[in-house]
Amino acid sequence: MKVLVAVASRHEATFEIAERIGAVLSELLGARDRTAHVDVRPVGTISDLEDYDAVLVGSAIYLGRWLKPARHFVAAQAGSLRHRPVWLFSSGPVGDPLDPTQEPAGIAALVATAGAREHKLFAGRLRRADLGVAERVTVNAVHATEGDYRDWTDVSSWACQVADELLGAAAVPVR
Ligand SMILES: Cc1cc2nc3c(=O)[nH]c(=O)nc-3n(C[C@H](O)[C@H](O)[C@H](O)COP(=O)(O)O)c2cc1C
Repeated sequence: MKVLVAVASRHEATFEIAERIGAVLSELLGARDRTAHVDVRPVGTISDLEDYDAVLVGSAIYLGRWLKPARHFVAAQAGSLRHRPVWLFSSGPVGDPLDPTQEPAGIAALVATAGAREHKLFAGRLRRADLGVAERVTVNAVHATEGDYRDWTDVSSWACQVADELLGAAAVPVR
């Protein structure tokens, strides 16, 4: 079984979430199927999904929405995505309590376009030192709190759930 974790990230926080998901999937799928393989790749590097039995697509949330390359990836690959098991994930909310708590705008349409089984929202990381001038202005305006709020237990348990579904899915051939 070959699985793709495709991700759009500006400052690496979401990419690192994708890598953790990829590592958990690799371990759990590999325990059942020695040929199982998981790729974690930026969305912009993927032109077709032929090789993959299942796809996870993730994006950081900026100004309430997924990053454009991730939205474009879902639109461009919609036909292929709909023929595979697909999950979506986001990383965004920061602070304690997490803020904002709402799902990214347009996510229901992306779920429908991709035929995704679920969208999972993860907390994010905000490091002022990473940000450009315009981003700092925005972050100051909304009084966003700096810090790493990513919940690695949440990330790993969601990846376990995805692995369980993949291993139980008759539609996915185990190679
Ligand atoms: C300018 C700016 C705008 C942001 N807007 C949102 C937002 O609307 N909703 C949200 O949940 N998080 C928002 N965030 C937080 C980021 O999504 C979060 O820090 C994320 O983990 C960053 O991922 P990345 O490092 O992969 O780019 C914003 C961060 C910045 C710097």
